[in-house]
Amino acid sequence: MKHLSLLNNNPIGVFDSGLGGLTVLKALKEKLPKESFIYFGDTAHVPYGTKSAESVINYSEKITTFLVKHNVKMVVIACNTASSVAAQHLRSKFNIPIFSVVSPCVDSAIQISKNKNIGVIGTQSTIASNSYVNAFKKKASAFNIYQKACPLFVPLIEEGWANHKIAFDISTEYLNSFKPLTIDTLVLGCTHYPIMKETIQSIIGEDVHLISSDDAVANTVHQNLQYQQIMADENNTPAESFYVSDFPQKFNEIGSQFLGRPLTNLQHIQL
Ligand code: DGL
Repeated sequence: MKHLSLLNNNPIGVFDSGLGGLTVLKALKEKLPKESFIYFGDTAHVPYGTKSAESVINYSEKITTFLVKHNVKMVVIACNTASSVAAQHLRSKFNIPIFSVVSPCVDSAIQISKNKNIGVIGTQSTIASNSYVNAFKKKASAFNIYQKACPLFVPLIEEGWANHKIAFDISTEYLNSFKPLTIDTLVLGCTHYPIMKETIQSIIGEDVHLISSDDAVANTVHQNLQYQQIMADENNTPAESFYVSDFPQKFNEIGSQFLGRPLTNLQHIQL
């Protein structure tokens, strides 16, 4: 019994190409206040969105190995790009549950969409991988999926301009192509995008549902912990640690914007 409780209180590993995954960690923490977390941000290699699949798989494997060494009970890939190109590889390589952000977003969109016209936005790599289109096809073939890469969103958000006029103009340019398609649901297929929700919603229209990785994945992880009976104990004292592979400029500013509070217990590590 003691062994089981130790396992339950093991941390959940969360990783991203950089800091965008902190939006997912924030949602996980809100949903699962008794859980401990280890976050790895691969700030030395961000952005993944423009890298080859081979590189992203290689980085993701190294990070997962690091998290597994820290005895995580599961791994959440808090990055749509890594989820799109590396999830399958990681699942075949590691013997613990690995959660991608793609599947929970697809499930939420299928539940919410009434007219079955769904838009997906993300990085170049996520869109080029067709991970969303394939996941929708597998789960519900009757849906029409329209995709658009929005490569300027990540740098805009990192510049702190998520709700600036420039963001508005660029978003208009990207999102206008959805207008004639009468989508009723838009998947924000990038963990940076929740920061830009306001701008995106104002352009796409109030009647379009936005699905973001943070809420979708928190619900899935919660359900899975319950199902597998590996939730942390009620009296667990949750711990939290952050690792990054580099300290980029404006690191703290951007990090606390994504997490909603300052980053503490932060260490730099090269993998
Ligand atoms: N975190 C990445 C994603 O969700 C966006 C940033 C990047 O390109 O690395 O796709």
